[in-house]
Amino acid sequence: MTLQEKVGQLNFPVGDLFMTGPTMETTQSDKFDDQIREGKITGIFNIYGASYTHRLQKIAKEESRLGIPLLMGADVIHGLKTIFPIPLAEAASWDLALIEKTARIAAIESTAVGINFNFAPMCDIGLDARWGRVAEGAGEDTYLTGMISAARVRGFQGEKLSDADTLAACVKHMAAYGAPEGGRDYNSVDMSERRLRETYLPAYQKAIDAGAATVMTSFNDLNGVPCTGNSFLLKKILREEWGFKGMVVSDWASISEMAVHGTAKDHSDAAKQAILAGTDMDMMADAYINFLPGLVESGEVPLEILDEAVYNVLKLKYDLGLFDNAYLYSNEVTEQTKVFSAEHLAISREMAEKSIVLLKNENQILPLKQSSQKIALIGPLANNRPDMNGTWSFFADANAPVTMLEGLQNLSKNEVLFAEGCALYESTEDKFEEAITVASQADVVILALGESAVMNGEAASRTDIGLPDNQLELAKRIHALGKPIIVLLSCGRPMAIPWLAQNANAILVTWALGTEAGNAIANVVYGNVNPSAKLPITFPRNVGQVPIHYQMKNTGRPYLGLNNEPASERIYVSKYRDSPNSPQFPFGFGLSYTRFKYSGLEASADRITNDERLKISVTITNMGEREGEEIVQCYIRDVVASVTQPLLKLRKFAKIKLKAKAHQVVTFEIGRDDLLLVNNDMQWVAEAGEFKVFVGPNTLDLQSLNFEYQIN
Ligand code: BGC
Repeated sequence: MTLQEKVGQLNFPVGDLFMTGPTMETTQSDKFDDQIREGKITGIFNIYGASYTHRLQKIAKEESRLGIPLLMGADVIHGLKTIFPIPLAEAASWDLALIEKTARIAAIESTAVGINFNFAPMCDIGLDARWGRVAEGAGEDTYLTGMISAARVRGFQGEKLSDADTLAACVKHMAAYGAPEGGRDYNSVDMSERRLRETYLPAYQKAIDAGAATVMTSFNDLNGVPCTGNSFLLKKILREEWGFKGMVVSDWASISEMAVHGTAKDHSDAAKQAILAGTDMDMMADAYINFLPGLVESGEVPLEILDEAVYNVLKLKYDLGLFDNAYLYSNEVTEQTKVFSAEHLAISREMAEKSIVLLKNENQILPLKQSSQKIALIGPLANNRPDMNGTWSFFADANAPVTMLEGLQNLSKNEVLFAEGCALYESTEDKFEEAITVASQADVVILALGESAVMNGEAASRTDIGLPDNQLELAKRIHALGKPIIVLLSCGRPMAIPWLAQNANAILVTWALGTEAGNAIANVVYGNVNPSAKLPITFPRNVGQVPIHYQMKNTGRPYLGLNNEPASERIYVSKYRDSPNSPQFPFGFGLSYTRFKYSGLEASADRITNDERLKISVTITNMGEREGEEIVQCYIRDVVASVTQPLLKLRKFAKIKLKAKAHQVVTFEIGRDDLLLVNNDMQWVAEAGEFKVFVGPNTLDLQSLNFEYQIN
C-alpha cells in the first residue's frame, strides 16, 4: 500500500456533508465515486440502500487499485425502518433478551440495506437529566447500562461478524461524555479517576467484553485532555487494561476540534496527537487525509503507528467478511422482504408495551374499562406521528408510526374525542377553548403531553426539564373541569413534573416508543397489557436537584438523622431549604395493575469468604387479580470501606412473571465480584468487613440484611 492508500483507509466521510445525524435519502449519487476509485476513503456513513451500496462496493472492488471493500457506517440507534422505543425507554423494560432482539432486528434491517458498521450502543452514564443524550443511553446506573449495552452488542454482532445479517457494534462515547458540566452537551468533564473508573467506565468495558468490534471517542475533554487525543483512555485503559483489539473511530470531526479545544495548534497537530493517542479513524475532520502523509514523511508520526491504525481498519473489514464478499451486506431481496416486516413490527410493539412505566394510578383508574364512557384525548402528542419515532430515527419514515389517537380508536369501544389543545412549545392559547369544550363532554380525559423528538437527543440539553409552559397551563385549565385525568408523558429524559405528580390521577411514561407507539399505549391503557417497566433513571422534583440519582453517598451530615428523623427538624445537614432531597419518582420505580408482596428475605449464611457465594432469597407474591411481571432488584452497601461509598449499588435483578395469587422464590447469588470498589490506589478490590444486601421493588422500598465478607 502507498502512504496515500493507507491514509485513505482512515478517512471516513458522511453521505451528507452538513449535518450531524443527517438525513440522507437513498440516492444513486456519484459524489463519492472518484474518491473510492482513488482509494481516498475507507467508506461512507449515513447512507443506505442495497443497490446504492452495492454500486459503491463494486467501484471499490473493481475500479480501485487495491480493491478494498468499504465500511458503510450509520447511527442505527433504535431501529432502521422498524423503529423501537428510544434506548432509555427500552432500558425501562430491564428485559435483556428483548433488548438483544430489537438490536438483532436493527442489524437485520441495516445489513440488508448495505450498512455494516453501527454507531451504537451508547454506553454513557446519564446522571444529569438536563443532558439531552440521556435518551440514547440506558440511564443512570452503571451495572444496568453495562448489562444492556452488552445485550445490544450481542444483538448487533450476532454469532459471527462475517454473517450476512450482523454488523460491527461501536461502543461510544469513550469516555464520560455523559457528564458534561451543567448538563450542556459537548461541555468539559472534570472528575476524579475513581469516579471515572467506578461509575463511568464499567459500562463501556462490559460492552467491549461482549465482543464489540469498535469504539468511538467522545467530543469532551476529560480532566483537561480532549478524549480523541487522550492516550490515558485510548491506550492505557482501553488497550492495556481491557485488552481491546478492535478499531477506534473519532466522533464527528472531533480530531480537528482539538484545535478548538485549544490543545492542538492546528489540524495537523490535532491529527498527530489523535493518532499517537490511539484514534485509528478520522470521522469527518479530513485531518488524517490532509496531514498524516506529511507527518509520516517528516517522521513526526512513526510509520508503525500509521500501520497499526490501518491494520485495525482492515482487520475489521476482514472480520466483517467483506474481503470474501464485498456485496455481503447489500441484499435487495432481504431489503424487500425483511425491512419493516410484520414480524419486526410485532416485536417493536412488544418492546414498546414493556417500556411504558406506570408512575401513578390513583384509585385504580387504569386500566380503562370498555364501556359507554366518553374519553377525551387531548394534547400536542395525541395525534402526532413523527415525534413517536423519537430522536435518532432519520432512516425511518416520519409518517409510519401509529399515533396515540389511532391506537386508542382502534381498540376502544368507548367514544374517543380529540383536541390538540396546544402546540408543543409555542405559547399561544388559541386552541385551549376547543380542548376545554371537548374535555367537558368526556367522562375521562387523557392528556398527551411532554417532549417532542427534538427536545432531547444530541445538542438538546435543557435548563428547564419541566413541561413547556403552554402544556402545563393547558393541563391546569382542563384539570379545573374536575374530570379524572390520565397523563401520557412523552419524553427522552426524566422530566420534573411536580404539578402532574400531584394533580393527575394516573401517569404513564410513554417516552418515544417508535413505530407501534399508539397500539402499545392503547394496549396498556385498556389493560390488554399489564405495565411492568421501571425507571432506569431518577425523576427529580425540580431541575435544581439535578444531578440526582440513587447512588448518593451518606455524607457526614445526611438528611436522615440517626433515628431516621428528617432534616426538616435539623438545619446543618446536606439538604435544600426549598425542596426535599428525595426525587419525585426514584430509580427502579414503576407500578403494575397488580400488587406484589416481598416476604421472607433470607441469606444462606451470615458470612462469606472470597471464594464463597451468598444466596439471598425472597418470596414474591402476586397479591392481585391478574397476571403481572415484576422486576426484583438487589442492591449492596459496603458499610465501612476505605473510601466513601454509595448507599446502594445495583448488583442483580430478575424479571419474573406471576399469575394472580401465585408466588415465586427469587434467589440472587452474591460473591466477591459484587463487592468491588475502586480504592485509593485505583485498584478494584473487595474489602473485608460488614455489608448490607437489599432487595425490593425500587430504591425507596427495600428490605435488607447484613453479612460479613472475609478474605482467606
Ligand atoms: C455523534 C455520534 C454519532 C456521529 C455520527 C456525532 O455527532 O456524537 O454519536 O455517531 O455524530 O452521526
